[in-house]
Amino acid sequence: MGRVLVVGALGQLGTDSVRAFEEAGYETIGPDRDRLDLAKAEEVAGFIAGIDPEVVVNAAAMTDVPGCETDPIGAYIANALGPRNLAIAAAATGARLLHVSTDYVFDGAKRTAYTENDLPGPLNAYGNTKLSGEYFVLAHAPGSVVVRTSGLYGRAPCRGKGGRNFVQSMLGFARDRGEARVVTDEVVTPTYTVDLARQLVAIARADIAGVVHATCRGECSWYEFAREIFDLSGLSPRLVEATTADFPSTVTRPRYSVLANDRLRAAGLDRMRPWREALASYLEEIGERAPTAVPPGRI
Ligand SMILES: NC(=O)c1ccc[n+]([C@@H]2O[C@H](COP(=O)([O-])OP(=O)(O)OC[C@H]3O[C@@H](n4cnc5c(N)ncnc54)[C@H](OP(=O)(O)O)[C@@H]3O)[C@@H](O)[C@H]2O)c1
Repeated sequence: MGRVLVVGALGQLGTDSVRAFEEAGYETIGPDRDRLDLAKAEEVAGFIAGIDPEVVVNAAAMTDVPGCETDPIGAYIANALGPRNLAIAAAATGARLLHVSTDYVFDGAKRTAYTENDLPGPLNAYGNTKLSGEYFVLAHAPGSVVVRTSGLYGRAPCRGKGGRNFVQSMLGFARDRGEARVVTDEVVTPTYTVDLARQLVAIARADIAGVVHATCRGECSWYEFAREIFDLSGLSPRLVEATTADFPSTVTRPRYSVLANDRLRAAGLDRMRPWREALASYLEEIGERAPTAVPPGRI
């Protein structure tokens, strides 16, 4: 089995990607940012030439969406120039690049799931810089795959968002405040990083290139997601419906950013579970699932 380099290895997705590729029998290398900083083109080229990986997974990004708005240059370096440096280095050694991108490349005007053929139209600096990263990757690294996903949560802390993912924030609100106010007018597909990491392994083994969408199945508002978190964890805080207008923000976000895994499904490669099933597994694994709740897979 070949060698895999995971960039952003300490992040939510990076941590599970290292584990998934190791479990699949690959020799996996996951340097931290001190050892491999995507912003440094020569360092990136030297690192990749030195280890000569078969596959490079880019799970690194500036994921703090409001932070990207206030520091668009930093966001462009991390989300666009970094992937560009990586793509040039991967192409030079013949490594195949799997680059992770986002549902936020879309404007959210649709009301049915976005396919790989839909035209992007990002609304904010995060989405814009991530889209630039996609274009750099596809232009510089032939055979690469841009894997767009949505609403990630995982066992490792989300490095870019101050640690807590949405599920942990909801559990915290329930315990600390007995109340959570959650928006009903943003619809996504929550996606467990374990599912996505295993999907990345399947993509690495397959003959597929270009843009693919990879999220868990189904869709929900953040409010519906919170409802399910509380139902499965057995917590019963006051859950209050809110809208995005109740939380004034410097960032415009898509109202609807559900992705259809059309290309993966057509290729017989879609391994992603329904979002409720994946959430149940996650809560079980972090010891937050109520004993009386329905077992995963029977929802
Ligand atoms: N989180 C979501 O809800 C979500 C949704 C859709 C798509 N995505 C995409 O999914 C991927 C993984 O997201 P995540 O939530 O796992 O992110 P995360 O937990 O915030 O981790 C991102 C990682 O990238 C590293 N990084 C940032 N800049 C870097 C640089 N210049 N060089 C090397 N490493 C760098 C960070 O290192 P340090 O912590 O040391 O800075 C961190 O380890 C990203 O491409 C993101 O855009 C995420």
